[in-house]
Amino acid sequence: MNNIDRLLQAIKQPTTDDPYRLHYHLMPPIGWLNDPNGLCQHDGTYHIYYQWAPADVNNGLKGWGHYATKNFIHYQDLKMPLLPDHPRDQGGAYSGSAIIKDNKIHYFYTGNVKKPGDYDYILKGREHNFMHVESCDGHILTNKECLMTNEDYPDDLTLHVRDPKIYHRDHDYLVMGARDKQDVGQVLVYQSDDLKKFDYCCRLKTEKPFGYMWECPDLFELNGQMILLCSPQGIKQDGYLYENIYQNGYFKVNYDFVNDSIVKDFEEIDNGFDIYAAQTFLDEQGRRILIGWMGLPDVDYTNPTVQNNWQHALTMPRILDYHDGHLYQKPLPEFKQLRMSQESYKKPHLQLKNNVFELQIKNISDTLYLKLRNDFIIEYHNGLMTLTMNESGYGRDIRHLELEHLDSLIIYSDTSSIEMFINDGYRTFTTRIYSENTDIECSNEINIYYLDSFKIESE
Ligand code: FRU
Repeated sequence: MNNIDRLLQAIKQPTTDDPYRLHYHLMPPIGWLNDPNGLCQHDGTYHIYYQWAPADVNNGLKGWGHYATKNFIHYQDLKMPLLPDHPRDQGGAYSGSAIIKDNKIHYFYTGNVKKPGDYDYILKGREHNFMHVESCDGHILTNKECLMTNEDYPDDLTLHVRDPKIYHRDHDYLVMGARDKQDVGQVLVYQSDDLKKFDYCCRLKTEKPFGYMWECPDLFELNGQMILLCSPQGIKQDGYLYENIYQNGYFKVNYDFVNDSIVKDFEEIDNGFDIYAAQTFLDEQGRRILIGWMGLPDVDYTNPTVQNNWQHALTMPRILDYHDGHLYQKPLPEFKQLRMSQESYKKPHLQLKNNVFELQIKNISDTLYLKLRNDFIIEYHNGLMTLTMNESGYGRDIRHLELEHLDSLIIYSDTSSIEMFINDGYRTFTTRIYSENTDIECSNEINIYYLDSFKIESE
């Protein structure tokens, strides 16, 4: 069987029951998932693609998986419309993005090629090709073509140049993540007027090296502020900052689209164990929506779902806002439709009906103690929030967040995930969690909405 047949075969065998299958998060029907790709809304329908290795639960040959929805509650699972079936992407149809022009969806992604042999795959033995493909409906993707290869990128770069995203303003600007030969992470910017020919403009980087590679860049403007979101690799932990192996965060950018520009003051978008490669898009209502990979590569903590042949998920979509010099993330209002019964409790200990709920705590003053699943402890006092996981973390241990005050908390809990929105989305915390225990302890009054599940239809 060749590689493509192996993928197609695996896709036909979705995972069977697993108590950790999520109820209102997108996950792979089988196998491995990583980055969200090609996020867009076209003719009312939202398209959410993702890096998918259906034949290998521990990360293998990838194409783009596809979910479509009109309301973020009912989905269609549209399998794998983008396969690694071209000589320029035979090692994987890697991450990329979508943009709508003249009512067509244009996709740009990285065609990965790994040559067999004894190579370092940084300076030799790899191709990162800039690929284009288009669609009238988001379902059938045609006219795959390679628009640039490593030969076309500036000479001082390694072969790691990937993850194209287009930012439309006076022209279309392409950003791609890159690693140079000095192992300095940065973002390349190209300009185009026809989405076919891309002219190199300049780069965005920090004054001093900040990691060796910046993956999955996304440049956009929100409330008058230009933001560069990206996932830098190779940054050392600094006190309570950068506690994960790789980071996902943003720079506020002041950029003229002509000269190289220095970016500074990187801020993490999330303080949890499982967040990476987040991407945004503008929907037809003008909302800037962010979706991240609820996972990280190369970590030493694990996911027991591997036993059931699937791994990882996407975060819930979040609405981005920018004010007072800061990015805020809020739960998508559509998720209110999932609310079923509501209950309020003042008791310090109780047992919930299940782990699929939205929990709110308001008017917190000074301190908080909250224990979920008899194992995951959230504490706040003296300006420090501490999140401690034990057995349910499968190797996830402790994370910190310095916070001047804690006013409110919204927690979205699913069978095997937790997403916390702290102080109205000023900060978030995302993690996977593996325990079916439904105990809860809390120092404050809590309000719970039990949540319904997504409906996902298969093709
Ligand atoms: C980020 C990333 C991207 C790459 C993709 C491959 O997680 O490494 O840089 O395009 O995943 O799946």
